[in-house]
Amino acid sequence: ARPDERPALTLLIAAPRGFCAGVDRAIEIVERALERYGPPVYVRHEIVHNRYVVDGLKAKGAVFVEELDAVPDGAPVVFSAHGVPKAVPAEAERRGLDYLDATCPLVSKVHRQAERQIEAGRHILFIGHKGHPEVVGTMGQVPQGTMTLVETIDDVAGLAFSTEEPLAYLTQTTLSVEDTRNIVAALQERFPQIVGPRAEDICYATSNRQAAVKAIAPDSDLVLVIGAPNSSNSLRLVEVAERCGTAARLIQRASDIEPEWLEGIGTVGLTAGASAPETLVREVVDRLSQWRTVEEHTLVTAEEKMVFKLPRQLAD
Ligand code: F3S
Repeated sequence: ARPDERPALTLLIAAPRGFCAGVDRAIEIVERALERYGPPVYVRHEIVHNRYVVDGLKAKGAVFVEELDAVPDGAPVVFSAHGVPKAVPAEAERRGLDYLDATCPLVSKVHRQAERQIEAGRHILFIGHKGHPEVVGTMGQVPQGTMTLVETIDDVAGLAFSTEEPLAYLTQTTLSVEDTRNIVAALQERFPQIVGPRAEDICYATSNRQAAVKAIAPDSDLVLVIGAPNSSNSLRLVEVAERCGTAARLIQRASDIEPEWLEGIGTVGLTAGASAPETLVREVVDRLSQWRTVEEHTLVTAEEKMVFKLPRQLAD
């Protein structure tokens, strides 16, 4: 169609969206390691859950592996933003590997809380999603059998603890704010003795992105969330939009968008998970503009100024 023939489309863009301070830092760690050591630099697990980011770093000489045994002796290795079980740095040290830890400082904070609760003699109920690398990493901070995973509110009823036992709860950083609040309330009701962090451990970036999508979803006919299918915080953004009664779709790249999705749609909401770069947002705007005359509006619900320091070995 000629530009003047393209029907109008209102695009509501959520802010904040996309990269958080932990993802920014993790990518910078890999980039600086490549400069310092030269390629190849090994990275254990996807540094952040985004194919575009991972492919970009691969092109610069990063090599992604799932376990340390795939890292040759003498090669530098970076641990991903999601954090690792204690056994991983211990093994790296045993082998004399030069390693850099890109674990988000907000995840490390939860790791330290876990250690403290165990030292205080409490059993930990950890709210999170089974199998997610952050959960594997946090559970790997404490001796086996001292932390129990709670995934849903229904899990709470099945917990075999008494109201006498010392208990604490902690949470994954990228959960649904709403679901977590309900699970914590259920835990407190069943176990009045339970102690927890002052605020739940859901990070600022996760809660800000959920609040931002909540602000655009009610006025949108369709919400597009840029993120990977294994990105916990991105999946939660889809859920939040759907709970506002708006259809939502997770996309990895602009090319995932089918023209049929826009049939009968006047307003599209757009956001991106914490591991999705802004380039991918612009790519989506460009693709939508091929079919429609797009009028962009950004709705800002919070300002973010968080920046995390680089590990000592890389600081200038
Ligand atoms: Fe850290 Fe939250 Fe990002 S835990 S990596 S700031 S999503």
